Amino acid sequence: MKLNRWLATGMVVAAAAVAGAAPATASHPVDPTQQSLGQLGLRHDLYIGTAVDMAALADPADPQYRATVSTEFSSVTAENVMKWETLEPTRGTYNFGPADELIAFAKRNNQKVRGHVLVWQNQLPAWLTTGVNNGTIGKDELRDILRNHITTVVKHFKGKIWQWDVVNEAVSDPWDSPPTLHYKGFWAQHLGPGYIADAFRWARAADPKALLFYNDYNIEAFGSGDPANDKTQFVYDLAKALLRDRVPIDGIGSQGHLGTQYGNYDTLQVAAALKKFAGLGLATAFTEVDVRSVMTPGVQAGDSGEINPRLQASAANYSVLLQACLADRHCLSYTVWGFTDKHSWVPGWFTNPPEGLATIMDENYQPKRAYNLMKADLIHSGPPYVLPRVPQKPRR
Ligand code: XIL
Repeated sequence: MKLNRWLATGMVVAAAAVAGAAPATASHPVDPTQQSLGQLGLRHDLYIGTAVDMAALADPADPQYRATVSTEFSSVTAENVMKWETLEPTRGTYNFGPADELIAFAKRNNQKVRGHVLVWQNQLPAWLTTGVNNGTIGKDELRDILRNHITTVVKHFKGKIWQWDVVNEAVSDPWDSPPTLHYKGFWAQHLGPGYIADAFRWARAADPKALLFYNDYNIEAFGSGDPANDKTQFVYDLAKALLRDRVPIDGIGSQGHLGTQYGNYDTLQVAAALKKFAGLGLATAFTEVDVRSVMTPGVQAGDSGEINPRLQASAANYSVLLQACLADRHCLSYTVWGFTDKHSWVPGWFTNPPEGLATIMDENYQPKRAYNLMKADLIHSGPPYVLPRVPQKPRR
């Protein structure tokens, strides 16, 4: 995109941002700090999304949740309601209602939808795991069940999903046993790693226009380069092998679940990783960003001397991932995994030690410095180094 077109896009987005108010003019420019993350992202053709908790979205006592999802973001992901246990709690009986509600909400608000998730070892229905474990569901039947699930779900949402997380978290971590990285979990155990290629092929057949992603955590940057212990390298090699076998994969989703107690990465490391995936011809996306902190007794007691450095470190990590994404034209979207500490999976999941403070707004929907830093990144970037995204076409 040429510079003048980029500026024109900015003006249109800016004008649209203040619908109802007088349009922006040279003498009365729009104040970008008053624009939403979603609006600011669109100047770069970058979609800024959030995971959505459907119970919170429907809660009349918490109208600010719904209002913020609709105004602040240009993309949404179902936090839970597109997972297998929710979609098919009883074998053969699909419960699409909550997911359909999210799709309708997104349509009303002009938002793209990331589909999450088709194949994962967690949040599977009990009928499936029990049947496999007690031997009543054998390998051939299990493969048929998986094909059926993918086909049914992807067809149901056909034309409504921009990006599907087809396979999620298939690769082990160095702290698992054995420590050499390997394909982990229910599906690899019962079907072997070939399920990954199968899943992408089945998904493509059911909706040829959706972008198909492999999604995982701890793949923000490359490490040693040895796939035995470098998860990013392992996933890179997986993607390369899938492409070699003409498997229809279009992108790599990097979840971006970080913690301020870890060293983490700088922007250039993360941008280099995105660029390397793009070198394979793949799109990328940050799909589940949050940056948690340990809730020490001091933090819990409200000691600002302990809280502030954590908020600052959290903001810096949000910014590292966003700047890296902005810097690579194949990074199509940046999704946070919840946007308020009032509704975040972190305190319920990371309990020993307790962790929290992971999102970009506090429990009262007040923006934290992470929110402001994200805004600043979106406002202060542009040509010549930050250019609008290159649209990814589904691979045939
Ligand atoms: C989490 C949800 O946020 C929780 O509400 C649920 O109890 C467990 O799953 N990686 C993923 C997401 O791909 O689906 C997970 O979501 C967080 C980790």
